[in-house]
Amino acid sequence: MNANNLLNTIGNTPLVKLQKINPYPHIEIYVKLEFFNPSGSIKDRIVKHIVEDAEEKGILKPGGTIVEGTSGNTGAAIAMLAAAKGYKAILTMPDKVSKEKQNALKAYGAEIIVTKTSAPHDSPEHYVNIAKKIVSETKDSFHLNQYDNLKNTEAHFLTTGPEIWRQTNGKVTHFVAAGSTGGTVSGTGKYLKSQNPQIKIIMPDPIGSIYYDYFKTGKINTDGTCTYQVEGVGEDHIAKAMDFSLIDEMYKFTDNDAFTMSRRLAREEGIFGGGTGGANVWGALKLAETLKEPAIIVTVIPDNGVKYLSKFYSDEWMIQNNYQI
Ligand SMILES: Cc1ncc(COP(=O)(O)O)c(C=O)c1O
Repeated sequence: MNANNLLNTIGNTPLVKLQKINPYPHIEIYVKLEFFNPSGSIKDRIVKHIVEDAEEKGILKPGGTIVEGTSGNTGAAIAMLAAAKGYKAILTMPDKVSKEKQNALKAYGAEIIVTKTSAPHDSPEHYVNIAKKIVSETKDSFHLNQYDNLKNTEAHFLTTGPEIWRQTNGKVTHFVAAGSTGGTVSGTGKYLKSQNPQIKIIMPDPIGSIYYDYFKTGKINTDGTCTYQVEGVGEDHIAKAMDFSLIDEMYKFTDNDAFTMSRRLAREEGIFGGGTGGANVWGALKLAETLKEPAIIVTVIPDNGVKYLSKFYSDEWMIQNNYQI
């Protein structure tokens, strides 16, 4: 592929059929490899869309500062885009985010602020609230606001969804994606259902996130402390970008489910993704187990395994944390 601008390489990622991990002959499972995006994750799509919208509306001015509270991948996308377009970037994140991800942001020239993972969502020490404070104190700043910005969902409605529809020749029957902001599952799900209302949308959620209970009971469980180790999905609050009306079923997964499946994907398929890719494939297989008729399940591998070499791709780390290797 030739592109006259780095940002034109965002999206149009490959869709690959699992060859060995899927034991069900009547089911096809495809994974969309989002680590092909230039900063290494699915978040390049939303950052490009939100930033271009803010530029068009004059909210983001030349030389301005983009601020965001991010678990890392949105930060990398912002840092990359800011470097390519000449903006400053200030990013806040909880201290559970891997050192590899933190250093990647610094490599792009962004400023980072690391906060305690244990700070509750309503505390001034929570990384999202610190980002808001920085925005209020910084001249010519723009808060990307991925959790509550509906342009996040729209980016997936305009790109991820149509790509999956085209790549499966309209034959996709199920889409599986765990969520944090919910942009991926909601935007892609909305597009796919607009093409074929029979398509089912399934969302795996880590134990400790509030989304599963909210989906099943309509209540917010305040015990949702998000102390699980998988990075980038599940939440301690309901994001506005998350549209539960599109979700047909949710499954609860453990860190062990996500990490062991990520490791299997690398060893058995050569697909070296992050922990949420493992969670998504775990969800696709759990779904496949329940399906009697032929089906075409699509899921996403949101980011690259290199970011987790010192975590679940390390045998010592897996043993220390009581996971299976
Ligand atoms: C690694 C990873 N996977 C999945 C997601 C979830 O995507 P979304 O915010 O679109 O729900 C994120 C979001 O931060 C992520 O960082």
